[in-house]
Amino acid sequence: PVEHTLAAIKPDALEEYKDEILERIQAAGFTITQIKETKLNQEVAEEFYKEHKGKEFYGQLIDYMCKGPSMMMILSKENAVQEWRSMMGPTDPTEAQAVSPGCLRSVFAKSVLQNAVHGSSNQKHAMEKIQFIFGDIDMDGKMNGK
Ligand code: CMP
Repeated sequence: PVEHTLAAIKPDALEEYKDEILERIQAAGFTITQIKETKLNQEVAEEFYKEHKGKEFYGQLIDYMCKGPSMMMILSKENAVQEWRSMMGPTDPTEAQAVSPGCLRSVFAKSVLQNAVHGSSNQKHAMEKIQFIFGDIDMDGKMNGK
């Protein structure tokens, strides 16, 4: 069955590598079901990353995500949540380069904070974040409790 995940190209990566990253997403066989460029404000960024509230990097993360537009996407494919996570690679680009040289973060990330892309960590988060960013859309008749 087709699965959906919430993916983002973060501000610095969007400015520098938009086309390269979108090409790789298409080449990997994802369907971009929804896409929108949006500059998060502080309130939205804090809600989006509420799971990280209290961590020492939380303030930096919110500032980083608000500094320019991000590309928000719903990526769809079989096993999309896990497939997108493995395509991104580890959070920290130093680790990404060591264990997964071809992944997006090993190629495009600048640091563990400025790590180019985001993806939902599991299916529950994916559905929550899709609804938070794109609203109550009906992608295939099964999302959002329908
Ligand atoms: P992301 O996968 O979007 O989820 C949380 C984000 O917090 C992560 O990518 C990084 O941008 C950032 N992050 C995670 N760990 C650290 C860290 N140790 N130092 C700074 N930023 C971090």
